[in-house]
Amino acid sequence: MLTDPKEKNDDIAVDLSLRPKYLADFTGQEKIKSNLDISIKAAKKREETIEHILFHGPSGLGKTTLSYLIANEMGKNIRITSGPAIEKVGDLGAILTNMEEGDVLFIDEIHRLNKMIEEVLYPAMEDYALDIIVGKGPSARTIRLDLQKFTLIGATTRIDLISSPLLNRFGITHRLDYYNNDEIEKIIIRSSKIFDTKIDLRGAKRIARSSRKTPRIANRLLKRVRDFAQIKGDGIINENIVDETFKYLEIDCYGLEHADRKILETIIEKFDSGPVGISTLAASISEEEDTVEYVYEPYLLQLGFLIRTPRGRKATKLAYEHLGIEYPKDKQDSLL
Ligand SMILES: Nc1ncnc2c1ncn2[C@@H]1O[C@H](COP(=O)(O)OP(=O)(O)OP(=O)(O)O)[C@@H](O)[C@H]1O
Ligand SMILES: [Mg+2]
Repeated sequence: MLTDPKEKNDDIAVDLSLRPKYLADFTGQEKIKSNLDISIKAAKKREETIEHILFHGPSGLGKTTLSYLIANEMGKNIRITSGPAIEKVGDLGAILTNMEEGDVLFIDEIHRLNKMIEEVLYPAMEDYALDIIVGKGPSARTIRLDLQKFTLIGATTRIDLISSPLLNRFGITHRLDYYNNDEIEKIIIRSSKIFDTKIDLRGAKRIARSSRKTPRIANRLLKRVRDFAQIKGDGIINENIVDETFKYLEIDCYGLEHADRKILETIIEKFDSGPVGISTLAASISEEEDTVEYVYEPYLLQLGFLIRTPRGRKATKLAYEHLGIEYPKDKQDSLL
């Protein structure tokens, strides 16, 4: 699915060239940016390391980008790993003992760390120390290795799955939120410059509106439109080219694809606009429950097309309007 915010193989090379490397190039998330700016400047001035930071929030909004950017702004190295990649205590030990003062350790998907690794991480985060067990049985003892001061940056889409002892050890926690259309438009214009592609303002606005408030999707759609412009037009991106591309890709003005519309139609037509439980809904469109809840639903909730109630999901009047289905008279009175 083109508008799935999760990273795909195709994105990786593009992400590398499009990732802002300085705070000044990073659009949106103003509050986080100004907080980070202060942390970075203060740490530099005092010649200290930055506190451990946790970034959380939906996919594709800039958590990894900000992590790289912090290391870059601090002029330090970044070591990159992820929760599932650290399988043994030794793996983590090897990374930690090789870090220099002030370096950043980035752990992506930190909610997937196993318990044993987490336990090793606690003293490392708190005291910059690594406790190693030497020997076996009754003669086993722990020796403590001192580590260089470092900054751990964790990223996760699922803060609800992070244990509270780990959560408490982060000095700074930031939640990234969806972008507004103006911010996405700016990101599209910046990316077009990097791609060396001409785009007019209306074209950029059109792509922005369908980008699901998510920079990764904006860049992905821009790439597709750029290809279209090269083949069907003169290489310049304007409103018409965007419309043509989206029509071909079956993406509507809100960036909804077939699967999103199917969810809304199912709630409306099969379940009389809801409420319907997530598992029943997922089963009736033959999707995984998690996919519905974490991939499709957040944006539909954002748009106000869907609401969550204690008894399940309901489609709103806005959803009817968008799909061109007449809103039933018997529902007119309710607030939805
Ligand atoms: N504020 C921004 N300004 C410009 N580009 C951005 C911004 N945020 C994200 N991007 C672009 O979007 C892409 C995706 O961002 P990133 O990889 O940081 O997301 P993420 O939050 O780590 O997602 P995931 O949870 O899937 O790992 C990046 O390649 C970057 O080019
Ligand atoms: Mg990431």
